Amino acid sequence: MASKIWAHRGASGYAPENTLEAFRLAVEMKADGVELDVHMSRDGELVVIHDETVDRTSNGKGRVVDLSLEELKALDFSCGMEKYRGVKIPTLREVFELLKPTGFFINIEVKCDIVIYWGIWDKLIELERESGMQGRILYSSFNHYVLMEIRKLDPGAKIGLLYSCAIVDPWVYAKYLNANALHPHYLALRAPGMIEGCKKAGIELNTWTVNDPGAMKTLFEQNVNAVITNYPDKAVKIRDNMQLI
Ligand code: G3P
Ligand code: MG
Repeated sequence: MASKIWAHRGASGYAPENTLEAFRLAVEMKADGVELDVHMSRDGELVVIHDETVDRTSNGKGRVVDLSLEELKALDFSCGMEKYRGVKIPTLREVFELLKPTGFFINIEVKCDIVIYWGIWDKLIELERESGMQGRILYSSFNHYVLMEIRKLDPGAKIGLLYSCAIVDPWVYAKYLNANALHPHYLALRAPGMIEGCKKAGIELNTWTVNDPGAMKTLFEQNVNAVITNYPDKAVKIRDNMQLI
């Protein structure tokens, strides 16, 4: 089966990252799924945003953990893109509602790198169950303890281990944690034996953030499970052309 293409923070090369507009565009561009980042607001809502603060991507200031959903929703997340002025931060529930009818796959990156959102795992699993989207969701995180909490709550939950350095034989670690996938930075895939090791161990490789056309081509040739990119249209074109040859 050909590699999947997941739009990183939505089609974030063209629309404000992690917004419904970026996810809609990913659907129009015929990606197979999206990657998005989740934090928790002061009042315990799951919100889709990359950073711990709203400073870079909105017209506001402050940490997500210190702001209520109402306060977050009052901000403009157009991220300097004039065409998208007034765009709001989405909740994870809103993204599920948008993508459920499309058949899209959702890679939820759980951000517990700086702020630890205690109990975020309970909320994620509860929402997944309510959404009826089981099987189309995979949780990834740089904080592997969080993924273990998710697994405890739902032994069937799909999990992927994020990392960016050159770990030796990472599939051994993935097997030990009973993970479904490794999510390396794509340059970490150059380590010897990576592709074969993961294939033999039955561990999926979903790699990020691949915006360079040459790297996309190599990864499609290596038949990784998913390529995560800000430019899903370019990736679709390259992959589909390769299949014609
Ligand atoms: O999930 C892949 C990638 O998004 C990890 O890094 O910083 O873009 O969330 P970051
Ligand atoms: Mg991410």
